[in-house]
Amino acid sequence: MNIILLGYPGSGKGTLAKDLSKTLDMVHVSTGDILRDEMAKKTPLGTEATSYMAGGRLVPDRLVMDMLKARLGTESRGLLFDGFPRTVAQAEALDAWFASRGQEIDAVVFLNVAESVVMARLGSRRTCTGCGKIYNVVSNPPAKEGVCDVCGKPLATREDDKVEVITRRIQVYKDQTEPLLAYYRASANFLEADGGKTPDAVTRDVLGLLRVKP
Ligand code: AP5
Ligand code: MG
Repeated sequence: MNIILLGYPGSGKGTLAKDLSKTLDMVHVSTGDILRDEMAKKTPLGTEATSYMAGGRLVPDRLVMDMLKARLGTESRGLLFDGFPRTVAQAEALDAWFASRGQEIDAVVFLNVAESVVMARLGSRRTCTGCGKIYNVVSNPPAKEGVCDVCGKPLATREDDKVEVITRRIQVYKDQTEPLLAYYRASANFLEADGGKTPDAVTRDVLGLLRVKP
């Protein structure tokens, strides 16, 4: 099974993807996480991506597609895309890539959350510097402040979770990613979930939606 998660920055794609990929034994493909990894390793791709990400703009389609093909070319398990595709050009490139491999997209899940809610969530997000677990100081704090419950490493605020960059990312989503809703909505595989519920309820709802698929 191949699944795409769509939604605003802060709609909960990463939180849901971590749960779903475990439950469904899929590969969690977060282009944001991969790009941050490339940046941390100071690879040529990471260096090229830095200024785009720091400013809340999209990394060019060509770089993202080359990066994914290199990472996923030999992967045979189901793919759970989180943060990809983000432009119509990326969606078309993904369709062509799947077609060349004799595969298809089984579900596109749109997490519907109000803009005011995602603004608040992103301002209070913390991420583990070790295992990547996602926290929220308001709705999902760690047991000990600033420390990951799972691996004990420090938590950090993402570089692009500053108010001015969050505002830019939301505008970029509206301009460049929201058109994907029209691109996918006509398909029988398009599913919509209320991302404003608790993380557990969102996971339960999405699993339910996936099960009722023919
Ligand atoms: P990326 O890392 O993908 O960021 P994003 O799309 O902006 O989304 P976020 O990771 O901010 O939010 P999320 O939906 O994963 O929410 P989360 O689960 O963390 O991309 C970063 C940058 O990389 C882009 O700006 C771009 O520059 C570049 N990039 C990446 N992919 C690209 C591509 N394909 N093409 C070009 N450029 C690309 O949750 C957020 C917070 O809410 C957390 O605190 C969490 O605890 C909390 N929360 C989650 N769910 C719930 C819930 N149900 N109830 C209450 N709180 C919740
Ligand atoms: Mg994310």
